[in-house]
Amino acid sequence: MGQNSMVVTTEAQNISSLKKEQVPHAIPAPYGLLTPGKVEKVKQVEHGIAIKTTNSYVEILAYSPTVIRVRMDKKVLGKDFSYAVVEKPQSVKTAWEQSGDQIVFSTDSVEVKINKDPFAVAFYSKDGKLINEDIASMGTSWIGEQVTTYKKLQPEERFIGLGEKTGNLDRKGTGYVNWNNDSYGYGANEDPIYSSIPFYIGLHDQLCYGIFMDNTFKSDFNFGASNNRFSSFGADGGEMNYYFIYRKTVADIITDYTALTGRMALPPLWSLGYQQNRYSYYPDTEVIRIAKTLREKKIPADGITLDIHYMEKYKLFTWDKKRFPQPAEMNKELEAMGFKTTVIVDPGIKVENGYPAYEDGTQKDVFIKYPDGQPFTAEVWPGWCNFPDFTSEKGRDWWEEKVKFLANTGVDGIWNDMNEIASWGNKMPFNVLFDYDGQGATTIGAHNVYALQMARASYEGAKKSFNERPFILTRAGYAGLQRYTAIWTGDNRAEDDHMIAGVRLLNSLGLSGVAFTGMDIGGFTGNPSIPLYARWIQIGAFTPYFRGHTAVNTKSAEPWTFGEEVTEIARNFIGLRYRLMPYIYSNFYNATQNGLPVMRSLAIDYSFDNKIYDTRYQNEYLFGPDMLVLPFESKEQFGEAYFPKGIWYDLYTGAVQNGNEEKIIKLAYNKLPVYVKGSSFIPMQSLVQSTQQLPKDTLVLNIYKGHTDNTYSYYEDDGKSYNYQSGDYYQRDFVYDPANNRIILKKKTGNRASLFKNIKLVMHGFGQQEHFSIGGHEVSFKKDFVALLTPISKFDPQGVANPLEGEDVLSHVIKNSDDEIVISIQ
Ligand code: NOJ
Repeated sequence: MGQNSMVVTTEAQNISSLKKEQVPHAIPAPYGLLTPGKVEKVKQVEHGIAIKTTNSYVEILAYSPTVIRVRMDKKVLGKDFSYAVVEKPQSVKTAWEQSGDQIVFSTDSVEVKINKDPFAVAFYSKDGKLINEDIASMGTSWIGEQVTTYKKLQPEERFIGLGEKTGNLDRKGTGYVNWNNDSYGYGANEDPIYSSIPFYIGLHDQLCYGIFMDNTFKSDFNFGASNNRFSSFGADGGEMNYYFIYRKTVADIITDYTALTGRMALPPLWSLGYQQNRYSYYPDTEVIRIAKTLREKKIPADGITLDIHYMEKYKLFTWDKKRFPQPAEMNKELEAMGFKTTVIVDPGIKVENGYPAYEDGTQKDVFIKYPDGQPFTAEVWPGWCNFPDFTSEKGRDWWEEKVKFLANTGVDGIWNDMNEIASWGNKMPFNVLFDYDGQGATTIGAHNVYALQMARASYEGAKKSFNERPFILTRAGYAGLQRYTAIWTGDNRAEDDHMIAGVRLLNSLGLSGVAFTGMDIGGFTGNPSIPLYARWIQIGAFTPYFRGHTAVNTKSAEPWTFGEEVTEIARNFIGLRYRLMPYIYSNFYNATQNGLPVMRSLAIDYSFDNKIYDTRYQNEYLFGPDMLVLPFESKEQFGEAYFPKGIWYDLYTGAVQNGNEEKIIKLAYNKLPVYVKGSSFIPMQSLVQSTQQLPKDTLVLNIYKGHTDNTYSYYEDDGKSYNYQSGDYYQRDFVYDPANNRIILKKKTGNRASLFKNIKLVMHGFGQQEHFSIGGHEVSFKKDFVALLTPISKFDPQGVANPLEGEDVLSHVIKNSDDEIVISIQ
């Protein structure tokens, strides 16, 4: 508690509309509804205040000046425990005072006004603006064990985020449930699907705030669905436990949220390359054939992913001896071709005497059980299975040990599937017991964190036994999953609306702290049409995790199976991704630092621009901070586009596009519309076939003329080890300073030398009238032509020719010095 703490009794202050609504403290018995009643006592505790009301116990704690935690229960608050939150409260300056009818608790950024009778909470900015308030007559209340907090709907309020949730970018008018669910072939608007992240961001009156309800029970969010009074969040059990975040921008809210729940560990560079998968490639000769074909067809790729058929009868920690007699050798052969191997793991351990994982797990007592001590047994791929308790240290240690088996056969990535827990019947009994790290929980409390804890065990195990940084993927998860794993959106369908819904799922995950996300490119169930696949592979090149996948009973779905033309399109766009790798890797690194996603909903940078929420435009997003991607269904020949404020350049032609403009654009089958923001830097490299291949020694630094300040943080390291943590990295800021007509490549930091000896400065939007000097010496930039795509050999179905398209630019190559480089523009 800060030095300013004080208790004073003053005249009642104006505390918003809370007072206007009156409520009886307890609703008559037949309704079974309990409200907190009125404040009886308040006292100072470490980091905040504790309050006793007629029917509840409350704590209001400051985690930072901008993050306030509210804990409430009908009984005395229990032990503080979280699977999501990794940050401890900082010691920040706080103060509180009370008057006759209210308590005011404040930090340097937020004032929490607590109405005493009835107990209700409202958050204000320090300059007196109302950010968020309880409906006083409902506040936080209980129906049985179910607890819900009701927040008054503010005029024009919008809601974004909530993790992997279908629906519109603005969730106003809809409601959602968090209950991790195996959702094979889910509908484009289905809820719930696989993952639970009870964190959303609200916006109104140029104000924004985040609410993270850290409660692992089945939870329910209502953003004004079937009512016109409130948004609400609640859970079937446990405490009401939410963090309120107030910052001036959505980006800062995400940064605060990821300070609280952790950020992505830097993934290996290879995991940012293209990954080829299907359910399933086998035997080993088929895996090698796929890898060789990618190389022969010059489709860059870094990963092959093995689905369940690599195992002997789907038994975990085995290789099928007939299909994969020498897995380590196969993985070496793949490695020599520049491929890394990711294998699937499921939580179900087959019940079978003589099967080592089962016998060992039983003997070490790691499986979850019913209250009578019988293991919970359910049917999945291998047959009847038991399931490790990942919510116990013992269970996680056991799994970590088992992961060595994968390391020993040269596996580089672990793909955690079916971890909702999925089983045939899809109805896990509620009375299964979990350790919940010593707290004890039944299915209803532990279900939503099971996958998070499985991913954690896989990650920790891989960190210990893999030689290099591991890649971890999960299907299900809970808040904080970004610390251990990337996530993909499960069994989507090979349909246009699913492709676009997938874009929104990834954007929403990004708003919810998860930077490393992907969807099955081409769709999992069903067979994509040729144009659909063509469009999907183009969009995929601009998503964080880029993997082609398809189900067991579908046609082959490697790029070349869609014909020569699509092969060329795939080669173009996958190749473009590889050329963009310096940009992509820097963006990933930056995400590890600030928690901002690699794939950014426009709601991050243009939060108060109403147009971006228009359902015609809500799918648009930025890939990295500066590339605007416009995804449209493959059937469309024209697309309705919105360009937010600023100046934009067509990625392929450099054509200038003004911001704040709605426009109908002509779509082409072979070219995803992508635009680049003015004042931005897009570092690129020469084409490689795998991230393991060295690019040429010149970094191509694309600089786009603009009128706004911009700083871009560029980053390199070895892409695979942890040495960057002890200084073996190369980082420098690129600064666009239009007021002084300067572009500055700041002095590098880190102990590493850049991979690139030269930097080719490629100036977009600048003309012959502009003169450049570098370090005070006039330099003449030469006229140059940039073509990012090669023409495809055929014409598109609409008969529109595809000539070599490109852009006239000015370029100049300089030595890559580590010192500051100043480029002046006259
Ligand atoms: C379900 C996963 O979602 C899918 O991607 C995978 O191919 C199958 N399980 C088989 O393992």
